[in-house]
Amino acid sequence: MRHAEITRFRQPDTAYVPMRLAVNIDHIATLRNARGEHEPDPVEAALIAEKCGAAGIVCHLREDRRHIKDLDLARLREAVTSKLDLEMAMTAEMQQIALKTRPELITLVPEKREELTTEGGFDIARHFDTLVEFLKPLKAGGIESSIFIEPEKSAIELAAKASADMVELHTGAYALKADERERTLELERIRRAATYARSLGLKVVAGHGLNYRNIAPFAAIREIEEVSIGHAIIARAAFTGLEAAVREMLAIIA
Ligand code: PXP
Repeated sequence: MRHAEITRFRQPDTAYVPMRLAVNIDHIATLRNARGEHEPDPVEAALIAEKCGAAGIVCHLREDRRHIKDLDLARLREAVTSKLDLEMAMTAEMQQIALKTRPELITLVPEKREELTTEGGFDIARHFDTLVEFLKPLKAGGIESSIFIEPEKSAIELAAKASADMVELHTGAYALKADERERTLELERIRRAATYARSLGLKVVAGHGLNYRNIAPFAAIREIEEVSIGHAIIARAAFTGLEAAVREMLAIIA
């Protein structure tokens, strides 16, 4: 089934559906690219993750193609039957690629050439008019859109105003807090943001820096329907195998 339409919010309270896991397979490509050959194959990783219960596969086609490449994306589109989420920058090139590839979902992220990974949420206030126009053809093409934002009220309101379908709340600050009290406060900020986004009719995902030690509290936030996790799962897979790494994450979430 493509893009399972089940969300926890369409269910009566008695039929609680656990939070879904989307697995980001970019770093399988990073490893493959280290030798410039064909292995490990990100498509094989996507199929293993799906087989183990991942509800979606995420990949980020960066401007510099440092991990996922165009051919990977085309092959992922052929292979992924759950939901393909294409993370991308708001550029004309990426819009064309999305319209051609037709992932179920695109997630807009800010992209800086020199960053190691996505840093900070998308600045909707700064790019609002461009964003509104950017999303129109995607929506017309039946592709849902998510915007990666800081868990802030103003950003959520602008995402709703721009007619995005979903927001992905940036959990990087939460993940980096070493102090437990500060981490709890950050979690509370994310919870409030999720509730507010839902009240405006947005679907809510969370991601960045989530791992086996810090994910558990998210399972209790019903407004967050999915988490997007990459590095922690691929890193663990190096020791346990991808199947075990995905299943272990799903077990914690459940
Ligand atoms: N969500 C977004 C928007 C991202 O850019 C990333 C990193 O590619 C992730 C989630 C996954 O983050 P991590 O690799 O830290 O799990």
